[in-house]
Amino acid sequence: MLESYGEIIFLLHFMLVYMASVNYDCPMACECDIDDETVNLSCRRTIPDTLPLNTRVVSITDIEYEYLQHSDFNNARWENVTKLYLRGGSVNSLFSYTFLNFRNLKHLQISFPDLYIISMNAFSQLTQLRTLDMSGNFHLSFDVVADALTVTEFTNNLDELNLQSLARFLTPGELNETFFLQLQRFNIKRLDLSQSNFRKIDPIALSLLGSSLEELRMIDVDLSSFVFYFYRSYAPHMFPNLQLFDISFARMKWFVLSLSIRDSVGVYDCFFPLFQARNLRMNNIFSETVTQVNITYKSLNCNRDVRGRIELKNNKIRFLNINVDPKMPMYREVDFSNNGLEYLSLNVMSHFTVMNWISLTQNNLGAMEKYIEFVDLFAHNLDLEYIDLSFNNLIRLPRDFFLFNSKLKTIIISNNLLTSQLFRIEHLNKLEYFDISNNNILFLDSSFLRTFDIMNLEMESNQSNIRQFSINLTGNTFKCECDTKGFIQWIITTRVTLVHRESYICEMQKNVVKINDNSPKDIEQICERTKLILMATLISLFSAGILVIIGIILICSYRRCLNLRHIKFLIEKYRKEDPPNKHLVFLSFCNSDRDFVYRYIIDELKDTLSERLDASKDDIVCIGDINFEPGRYILDEIIRCTESCCVVLLVVSEAFCKSHYCDFEALCAELEKKPIILMFLEEVDPKCMSKIMYKHFQKYTRVKWTRNGDEFELVPSWAKVCDSICAFAGANARFANKASIVEQTPLATI
Ligand SMILES: *[C@@H]1O[C@H](CO)[C@@H](O)[C@H](O)[C@H]1NC(C)=O
Ligand SMILES: *[C@@H]1O[C@H](CO)[C@@H](O)[C@H](O)[C@H]1NC(C)=O
Ligand SMILES: *[C@@H]1O[C@H](CO)[C@@H](O)[C@H](O)[C@H]1NC(C)=O
Ligand SMILES: *[C@@H]1O[C@H](CO)[C@@H](O)[C@H](O)[C@H]1NC(C)=O
Ligand SMILES: *[C@@H]1O[C@H](CO)[C@@H](O)[C@H](O)[C@H]1NC(C)=O
Ligand SMILES: *[C@@H]1O[C@H](CO)[C@@H](O)[C@H](O)[C@H]1NC(C)=O
Repeated sequence: MLESYGEIIFLLHFMLVYMASVNYDCPMACECDIDDETVNLSCRRTIPDTLPLNTRVVSITDIEYEYLQHSDFNNARWENVTKLYLRGGSVNSLFSYTFLNFRNLKHLQISFPDLYIISMNAFSQLTQLRTLDMSGNFHLSFDVVADALTVTEFTNNLDELNLQSLARFLTPGELNETFFLQLQRFNIKRLDLSQSNFRKIDPIALSLLGSSLEELRMIDVDLSSFVFYFYRSYAPHMFPNLQLFDISFARMKWFVLSLSIRDSVGVYDCFFPLFQARNLRMNNIFSETVTQVNITYKSLNCNRDVRGRIELKNNKIRFLNINVDPKMPMYREVDFSNNGLEYLSLNVMSHFTVMNWISLTQNNLGAMEKYIEFVDLFAHNLDLEYIDLSFNNLIRLPRDFFLFNSKLKTIIISNNLLTSQLFRIEHLNKLEYFDISNNNILFLDSSFLRTFDIMNLEMESNQSNIRQFSINLTGNTFKCECDTKGFIQWIITTRVTLVHRESYICEMQKNVVKINDNSPKDIEQICERTKLILMATLISLFSAGILVIIGIILICSYRRCLNLRHIKFLIEKYRKEDPPNKHLVFLSFCNSDRDFVYRYIIDELKDTLSERLDASKDDIVCIGDINFEPGRYILDEIIRCTESCCVVLLVVSEAFCKSHYCDFEALCAELEKKPIILMFLEEVDPKCMSKIMYKHFQKYTRVKWTRNGDEFELVPSWAKVCDSICAFAGANARFANKASIVEQTPLATI
């Protein structure tokens, strides 16, 4: 029995405790939200005097009291609360000992837009406090906060003092020695002065917090005087533990002033102790476009261990140069994104020797491609593991762009204008993510695909590895054609993870289609068709070619055959002593060439022809000197001679061209429709030739005398020339009655 009584008592006790915490009577005029150890109260004209048991976190909003005092929290129930948030409402004063009962309070937030009075002892007895958040007290001055803290006895140091948006509606105060001396003894680790309203901040005074300060945020504040002061403050290691210095959105007149003089900024490391923070954030400082920023770190033995991260985002810097003297390892992580950077000096990158992470997204580094040194931009960053170059208007990266970055795990070059000609990746055997989405890639060549497959295989076969290898190719319109079939096949079959593969598209016969399992087959069909068409075209071309060749051969042989028949016919005629004309050739030459003609031409011509025709030499060749009848009119004789011969052979020289008789002889031959053969003794200016001669000169091949030392030589040979003469004569004779259809035969080319 006793045991069951004990049980009942225990149960009752448990139920009571449970009821007390669950069935907490939310005070009138309050809205309550209770969850585990947290109580959110939205009260107006009251502050409850009871709390659920074991409440640790209390938030009270919209208190419509003018002031808070000790009696408002005069209850033992508050003793176990560790976090107290007081926000909004109309409280303007905190009286002495208000928080006396919060013996275990670690985190206190007071955020009253109207608060402007804090009594000296308001915070006394808050011995456990680690975080004091006074943000959003727009009417509270820095002096009031500092004074209130003066008499406070915190057992521990303050981890965080948040003074965001303080004194926004007041005339700006001055953060001088008086202020920082009051804070000094709390060994504050994190100080936030963002968006607060102060006119001046004395950096030397600020350095009173230096030994403990780990994070300093001064986002969106007016730092014009601050930077000016800093020139005077030389004291290395003033902030030896500073992990973060954030002046994003800060308004710095000094910067702006220097910028107007050729847009140059100098930051001197040791003179600027705050800039030695492991992590430096200077985003959105420059609202105007900055064409050139030179940052110079003058190291005066103040380089600490390797730093964390530098951020220079959204600063509209077009040209960035950082000089460090002497060189020292700089930040591990670098974020220069969204600046529209057109030039990043090699110098900058060569200082970041320990850098493993860089984001350069949303710049314009495509403008740097034209410089030869572009290829070496990351040649000094041997530890680089992550790089983001998206949105940079890059058209073509050099083949050796990542030659020295064999530790790269992530490459993001999405949203550029890159084509299929990419850089080398075979050596990047640590690669895990490769993003070339939204570019102009038509295909990846087989060496790329092989490398990807190998990398993937290595990663898959490593049991202890949990990482995955993936590639992002979305947003490119590939080419689905015969020569890219291998690539499309790879997309379908590879074991590499392709991000959003289902969305990949390609252009197939001018249509954009989704790539699916059937794509390789479709391409195959198109290829087969194309191949067939190509084959057919080739075959028809080939056959046409053969036909043409056969035709040419036939024509040529027919001609030769014809010539031979003409010659044979002529020989036959001569054998029957029935020559077609009295003379075979009328040799027309000019008087001044007489010597040459007698010496080199007449005999040879007669001999060769008579030998060919097996006829007597007499009368074969008609020569004016011999065959013109003396005493007759010379033009008549020329006509007679032309009529009585089969072929006219004109011996052409400069003198021949100028002679009227010679001209007439050519004219006669033309009128009589006699075949004409031109035999050149020398080069003759075509301009001085008669019309008929010029016509022949242009249309037909000719015979030429060339000089070989003292010897003269006929090209082509006499035999050929005589064959031609015989062929012409034979043809002329055979078709004597028909209109002349004599075709001239090629003799020689000049
Ligand atoms: C109390 O308010 C905070 C924000 O002010 C909220 O995050 C939390 O969830 C609330 N708790 C309950 C129990 O409603
Ligand atoms: C505070 O916590 C202690 C120890 O857990 C406990 O004994 C005491 O009852 C609690 N006080 C209140 C008011 O909840
Ligand atoms: C600091 O500024 C306050 C006003 O904000 C002024 O009263 C005080 O005298 C100044 N202290 C020093 C040391 O300049
Ligand atoms: C910035 O540095 C570059 C390279 O060292 C130099 O050519 C340029 O004149 C400098 N600009 C200014 C304004 O000092
Ligand atoms: C792949 O690229 C697209 C387009 O750039 C992007 O929206 C998407 O987030 C990327 N996917 C992954 C997993 O990174
Ligand atoms: C396997 O993966 C683990 C973890 O990523 C890595 O440390 C190890 O070097 C890999 N082993 C081989 C043989 O690549």
